[in-house]
Amino acid sequence: MLRLVILLTAVSVVSATQKCYSCTSAQSYDDMLQWQWTHAWRNDQNKYQLKMSSQCDLEPILAGGDTDCHSLCFKWQFNYTDTLGRAAYKTVRGCADEQLSTYPSSEDCPDPQFTTGGYIGAPGGGPPGYYEMCFCSGDFCNPAAKSTAYSIGTMILLAFFTCLFH
Ligand SMILES: *[C@@H]1O[C@H](CO)[C@@H](O)[C@H](O)[C@H]1NC(C)=O
Repeated sequence: MLRLVILLTAVSVVSATQKCYSCTSAQSYDDMLQWQWTHAWRNDQNKYQLKMSSQCDLEPILAGGDTDCHSLCFKWQFNYTDTLGRAAYKTVRGCADEQLSTYPSSEDCPDPQFTTGGYIGAPGGGPPGYYEMCFCSGDFCNPAAKSTAYSIGTMILLAFFTCLFH
């Protein structure tokens, strides 16, 4: 019985918050504003906590920014072809309730949307490309698969308590 209570407590503590990558590949906050990445941006200072690094695009673990999050993690990404013909990205990753005023209550990842760009307010800030906004739960689930993060965490916990009370 004691084991069960401790296990349940541990599991609920673990699920109360999660870690999210918290970064952007923007080089300045002006850049980020021009990307038009969301109309639901919170009107406060939290954006200054996003770690600025070009590695946020494809290797967020190397970008080095993370945050403890009480809501879903999110990833906004715009992909396009740059003037030299190379694949290029604009990315923001973070914790939904830190950065956004509205967000879904459960995981959501609609298909990428194409924009022709070139108009005021175009997502991505000008060039034609695809943008997507995904929400997920699970440590560092933006971008990793949720099931991976969850099962690793659960296995470590179970191993820990099995050793402790064996
Ligand atoms: C951008 O994403 C779309 C949709 O996932 C994909 O079809 C396209 O090839 C990508 N384009 C570039 C330049 O990476």
